[in-house]
Amino acid sequence: MFVCKECGYKSQQRLGQCPYCGKWGTFIEEKISSRAAESRESVKISSLKPEEFFRIHSRIAEFDQLLGGGIVKGSVILIAGNPGIGKSTLLLQLVPEREKVLYVTGEESPSQVAQRARRIKAGEHFYLLSSRKLENAENEIERISPSIVIIDSVQSVVADASGGFSVSPAALRAVTSRITELAKTKNISFILSGHVTKEGVLQGPKIIEHIVDVVLYFEESPSKKHRILYSTKNRFGNTQEFVLFTISAAGLNVVDDPSKFFLSSFANVPGSVAVSAFQGSSPFIGEIQSLINRTSFQFPRRQVIGLDLNRVYLASAIIERIFGFKLYLFDIYLNVAGGIRITEPAADLAIAFSILSSYKKAPIDRRCAFAAEIGLGGELRGVSDLAGRVRKAEKLGFEKFFTATAGEKVKSKMKIFYCRNLKDCFDAVW
Ligand SMILES: Nc1ncnc2c1ncn2[C@@H]1O[C@H](COP(=O)(O)OP(=O)(O)OP(=O)(O)O)[C@@H](O)[C@H]1O
Ligand SMILES: [Mg+2]
Repeated sequence: MFVCKECGYKSQQRLGQCPYCGKWGTFIEEKISSRAAESRESVKISSLKPEEFFRIHSRIAEFDQLLGGGIVKGSVILIAGNPGIGKSTLLLQLVPEREKVLYVTGEESPSQVAQRARRIKAGEHFYLLSSRKLENAENEIERISPSIVIIDSVQSVVADASGGFSVSPAALRAVTSRITELAKTKNISFILSGHVTKEGVLQGPKIIEHIVDVVLYFEESPSKKHRILYSTKNRFGNTQEFVLFTISAAGLNVVDDPSKFFLSSFANVPGSVAVSAFQGSSPFIGEIQSLINRTSFQFPRRQVIGLDLNRVYLASAIIERIFGFKLYLFDIYLNVAGGIRITEPAADLAIAFSILSSYKKAPIDRRCAFAAEIGLGGELRGVSDLAGRVRKAEKLGFEKFFTATAGEKVKSKMKIFYCRNLKDCFDAVW
């Protein structure tokens, strides 16, 4: 099998250009070996007893809930995030009191880890190994037989295995496979941290995601004040939930009521609009902001950060046509707060309302959230997983949700406005 190391796309042949992400020369060969037991005869599925998962509880109840009830014994969990986001802090805070835990750090000295543990008042009765060699970790596993092994980070261990600092995809895969093997044969749970690059993929390859059992992403909230932990893959539970933390010198603190925090960071100014989008496979509410000024250029400027520029061109053309607003006389600047990227068509409606709100200098009630694709005629199109988006918005304290008539109807405490087109939606908002 050949796998694109940028996006994880799989192909039977080595391709020059990845048909999914468009990058050139990114395919690497991968040997596929099944982790399931090898058997000669098939069995009748009704005769099989479902496997009972034994779960270990961490020190953060919300983390356990995110995993579906605790850390499954023998599972491999990957926590991916940008450098400095708080991965090591989270790992330390998770360490359960009553379990035997081996914490392997390939990036920091023992005293650095101890210092952090003291600062955030984490439990201090785990075994710490400062090493960049998986071999050493394996020896320690033999010696102390821990029930949980934390590896901070998976890349640091790989870097040594491949004899340098640049992480080769093949080496990363090999190390992760070895870890998975250890987890299954010794029934030890592994929690790995992994760095993410600017483009949002796990450094080098996204390909280790399919080897591990659970993939969690740790990100900054749009307001930068919070950290969000959500799962994009979970073999033992759903991927609907997320955990919101605040971070300070005392470490991470779970926010019980995310809605207040999210909504308080929204500025109630013209152009600021809540968009319901997807981050990985979890729905999320982001904030789109815009600024519209009369242009002093021959061609009005359209500058966009975090959105698809073409969709902004489209939204402004549709607004000009439907409402007759002279947007061609104005420069338009659009931005997604917090530096996240939202490129799905479902953001169209929020983009349009951000522009409309700026143009009219009329703020939009900050309890409103938007999700719909806009067709060239101004008609609204349905979005994927409306129910999930609505649930998330409701949980975050939103009260009104604007979307298209097409598609599923969902039950919610929020008032949901199913609009046929942009004009209908405009009348419902203002
Ligand atoms: N002395 C301190 N006082 C207050 N906050 C701190 C202190 N040290 C670290 N922090 C907070 O913790 C964050 C870094 O946490 P941590 O080291 O867990 O991140 P990380 O994701 O493991 O980073 P890396 O990618 O470098 O391993 C910082 O961004 C900062 O917000
Ligand atoms: Mg770290």
